[in-house]
Amino acid sequence: MVEDSVAQRILMVEFDRLYSDRAGKMRKSEIRELLKVAQDPEVISFAGGLPSPESFPVQDLQGIIHSVLQQKGKVALQYGTTQGLTELREVIAERACKDGIDATAENVMITSGSQQALDTIGKILLNPGDSAFVGLPTYLGGINAYRSYEANLVGIPLDKDGLVIDLLEEKILELKKDKIIPKFIYVVPTFQNPAGVVMPEGRRKKLIDIANDYNLIIVEDDPYGKLRFDKDHIKPIKSFDDEGRVIYMSTFSKILAPGFRIAWTIASEELARKMIICKQALDLCTNTFTQFIVNEFMRSGSLDLHIMKICERYKPKRDIMVEAMQKYFPDGYICNKPAGGMFAWVTLAEGIDTEIMFLDALKEKVAYVHGKAFCVDGSGGRSMRLNFSYATNEQIEAGMKRLGSVIDKKMKILC
Ligand SMILES: Cc1ncc(COP(=O)(O)O)c(C=O)c1O
Repeated sequence: MVEDSVAQRILMVEFDRLYSDRAGKMRKSEIRELLKVAQDPEVISFAGGLPSPESFPVQDLQGIIHSVLQQKGKVALQYGTTQGLTELREVIAERACKDGIDATAENVMITSGSQQALDTIGKILLNPGDSAFVGLPTYLGGINAYRSYEANLVGIPLDKDGLVIDLLEEKILELKKDKIIPKFIYVVPTFQNPAGVVMPEGRRKKLIDIANDYNLIIVEDDPYGKLRFDKDHIKPIKSFDDEGRVIYMSTFSKILAPGFRIAWTIASEELARKMIICKQALDLCTNTFTQFIVNEFMRSGSLDLHIMKICERYKPKRDIMVEAMQKYFPDGYICNKPAGGMFAWVTLAEGIDTEIMFLDALKEKVAYVHGKAFCVDGSGGRSMRLNFSYATNEQIEAGMKRLGSVIDKKMKILC
């Protein structure tokens, strides 16, 4: 059979010898595999970090897409510069200035999602074996990006105010004794993924002081900062950066549409230059067409109104989820009500392993991401991340009821 012979020929290729050491060490994400199962339409999924599809401004975008094609089609469908569309970078820099960040279009680089920026940072800063700090827990995509550059990731615990700065300094000194000088601190300071917490201003300033004292870069990842329901606005860490050591990044994925794959970084000209060189090899340029669309959307003044609508949509979802927890979860769980963003972080009673419990949850047609996935030191076994933006209000209520009964059964077995 023709097919057999192709399969046999593939088996003869010695892939192990051909792969780079780096590729040989790459592992597929177990979480992605688990999430595939959660795609069953009968499963109510609190697992992914997906925005509500109902929030996409389809009609507004139809008009913009039409006019971009009609008026600017010849440039919008062409290659663009690696750094990104100048007009878009300008309007992003203007908005950043309103948040206290001292930036011009020269400091801004458009990326294919923030995920590309995370990868770029790994590429320009990490040699194999280099150390970097991350939160315990932290964003899984950050862990994966840095691990692909063979980083040694050192976890710093979070409390209700985010990264515990005193523990960070202790860890820096401890590593120094072993002559290990870490490269950067990766932090999601506002409505953190997965823990939902916000780092207050005092702690942000302290973090800058530590980075200055120990010559560290801060990677500030801020996709959720504008999705604020209850808390006052807090200035980004980058706004306190006098030495040009903070790389700030945000994305249109959560405030407009992830399908556009448009995000941005703001960095000192030195770091921006390095990142642009690095990006040239990754994709030459970010999707030009969607950059034009996003630029028009921003310049039409629609973005702020749209963000307001998203917050109005998500706040009741957050409330339904937190209230359903109180109604359906057995006593013994901990969850701080997130003041914004898209996630609630729940820690269950002693003895429960949320990774094992996931299979029971799937049988009951409800899904989440277990806490260990977000913790580089293997902690987080009693925790789980619940996304409240994607499911409908009715699904949240029903899914939390299912999840409550799964936890209840687990707890009864433990007793
Ligand atoms: C903290 C954080 N950083 C980065 C990303 C990646 O976003 P993007 O869609 O812009 O690649 C996400 C997506 O969920 C995220 O939660």
